[in-house]
Amino acid sequence: MIKSKIAILISGRGSNMGALLYAAKAEDCPYEVALVASNDPNARGLALAAAEGIPTFSHSHKALAREDHDQIMHDAIIRSGAEYVALAGYMRILSDAFVSKWSQHMLNIHPSLLPKYKGLDTYQRAIDAGDSHAGCSVHLVTPELDDGPVLAQTEVAILPDDDAESLASRTLIAEHQLYPSALAKYVTREAQPEWILDQVRQRALALSETHERLSFGSPGWRVGSEKTGKYFAYFTQRLHGEASIGLLVKTSGLDEQAALLDADPDLYYAPKFYGKSGWIAIRLDTGRTDWGHISDWLAKSWRMVAPKKLTRMMDIADEF
Ligand code: GRF
Repeated sequence: MIKSKIAILISGRGSNMGALLYAAKAEDCPYEVALVASNDPNARGLALAAAEGIPTFSHSHKALAREDHDQIMHDAIIRSGAEYVALAGYMRILSDAFVSKWSQHMLNIHPSLLPKYKGLDTYQRAIDAGDSHAGCSVHLVTPELDDGPVLAQTEVAILPDDDAESLASRTLIAEHQLYPSALAKYVTREAQPEWILDQVRQRALALSETHERLSFGSPGWRVGSEKTGKYFAYFTQRLHGEASIGLLVKTSGLDEQAALLDADPDLYYAPKFYGKSGWIAIRLDTGRTDWGHISDWLAKSWRMVAPKKLTRMMDIADEF
């Protein structure tokens, strides 16, 4: 298994860092910890990481402009080979430049049920509001503090005699469970059916006059009106005993289908039930899908079934 490399940024205790790195010791964990870095050379978590044989890096932020300190951290992360950054109690506001460099590749854990209680003092605010539950959230990091898309949450019941401290220590147990699993899920998202379906959907619906409709339980995309539209693509997720997740698109016929199967048997297969009518299935779960190629196929298939009024201009353009 190829593991994703992650860098964990901490400022203190580092108990979430511990949870992440102990989870990473499991053979089937899809990530490995390439670096633990801190803005505080005395952060307690650094010693634990070093004792566990993880490379560490620290550089105090004192007397440095925010951008300059972020750049130093960024350089260390790049040197470690990490592709993802996991913030775990990193008590620094990050510059927009740093956040944009790690866009979609940086996660944080926050001790509230976001979007409730961004920032500090989350437990007391939940208690004061009379909430039945507090909790924790793992989210993607965007320039606005604690505002990025939430990837996973755990609710933690507030007990009648809870104070901020007791609630914090119970929430921490939930954090330690949540973060490793949310990170593992995130780094493997490109192999998950929902993510793949979403990629196809965005591309199919970007073509003109298209809509989605279920066909025997599988999402399919049609061009034309709701009433008379025709399917130009279907998504199949291990249907009919097939082993793969795939996209069905229309070829010009059996000759083209046979040529494709011959040219790249790892990528193409003949879909059960549709095969005889010249549809071809393209595997989407190889982990190295060329999404530009999928867009081209969708456009080609769309054009094959789209009403003349939509393709006329393209046909004319083709003649020149
Ligand atoms: C945790 O409560 C986390 O939710 C927040 O900072 C705290 C870090 O604790 N972002 P630790 O350093 O992981 O023990």
